[in-house]
Amino acid sequence: MRHSDTNILNSSESSSIEAAVSALRDDELVAIPTETVYGLAARASSRTAVNKIFKVKGRPANHPLILHIAKTSDLEKWAQDLSTVARTLVDHYWPGPLTIVVQRNEKVCDEITGGRNTVAIRCPDHKIATELLNRLDDAIVAPSANRFGKVSPTTAEHVAADLGDDVKIILDGGECAIGLESTIIDCTTTPPQLLRVGAITVEQIKTECLITVVSASGESRASGMLDKHYAPECEIELFNNRMQAETRRSELSQLGTTSEILDFGDDLALYARSLYARLRDADKRNIDVVIAVKPPSTGIGSAINERLKKAAR
Ligand code: TXA
Ligand code: MG
Repeated sequence: MRHSDTNILNSSESSSIEAAVSALRDDELVAIPTETVYGLAARASSRTAVNKIFKVKGRPANHPLILHIAKTSDLEKWAQDLSTVARTLVDHYWPGPLTIVVQRNEKVCDEITGGRNTVAIRCPDHKIATELLNRLDDAIVAPSANRFGKVSPTTAEHVAADLGDDVKIILDGGECAIGLESTIIDCTTTPPQLLRVGAITVEQIKTECLITVVSASGESRASGMLDKHYAPECEIELFNNRMQAETRRSELSQLGTTSEILDFGDDLALYARSLYARLRDADKRNIDVVIAVKPPSTGIGSAINERLKKAAR
């Protein structure tokens, strides 16, 4: 859909946040910045609003949504029977890029969880998101604000390009600080399971909280974790180092194939922050192949490699 630009609001103005809160109260959708990626927000207590998300994103109804809260103490409003593991993780990493899957209570509607008795919850570390949640005095559900199957948006312009006028307001908070989606840990299993890797790694959790998180398997693994998910239009090829990437680039160029190299050296934070924007940009310029140099798998490097692998399939 062509986009008019009129619904992008500068989030540093208090009136913009007020407009967003008012739209959410009217069961409209609002795109908001978070520290990970932009989210497409709906008021969590409104089934009407939540249903709009599935319609606008073209997302299957069995793909559950993450509930976003203003502060750790709001967790009790939506969850029950919290385990020690869940409490420890929350105390350690909230607000921040960690989503926990816990037992839901009766306030969480089936539309949010796809009928599961568990719910994914996160407390974003972002001034605007927090202020919006505090003023709204409700939780929001927010998937990444892209059409289903596209890479997540890390700027307001990405959201506008994907969702156009289907979203009432886009709060512009600039570029997302992290640039990749939150880590998701299922705390309803023993041991807890990693459902998605993000900025927070299992190694870090082991060192900092003495909690062992294992790879996902069985029921939780199956829930909406599609094989190919982060998909740009261009082909993506992965290489271990710059030299291999340069060689491949020459080969492709001789074949008349347009390509470009994605390489950020050891700057993992920059890689994570730039990855989705660079993939979108390559598509915009009709680049045939993006040749990505894989980062080391330390810290957020695991998340980058996992997204690259999925995009390359
Ligand atoms: O960083 C993020 O988490 C971003 C920002 C906007 O907060 N949100 C995000 O949402 O990435 P989304 O909808 O794109 O991804 C939600 C993931 C899906 O993979 C879904 O399967 C999983 O969370 N999920 C949600 N509820 C779940 C549940 N009850 N059990 C297992 N997985 C769940
Ligand atoms: Mg998503």
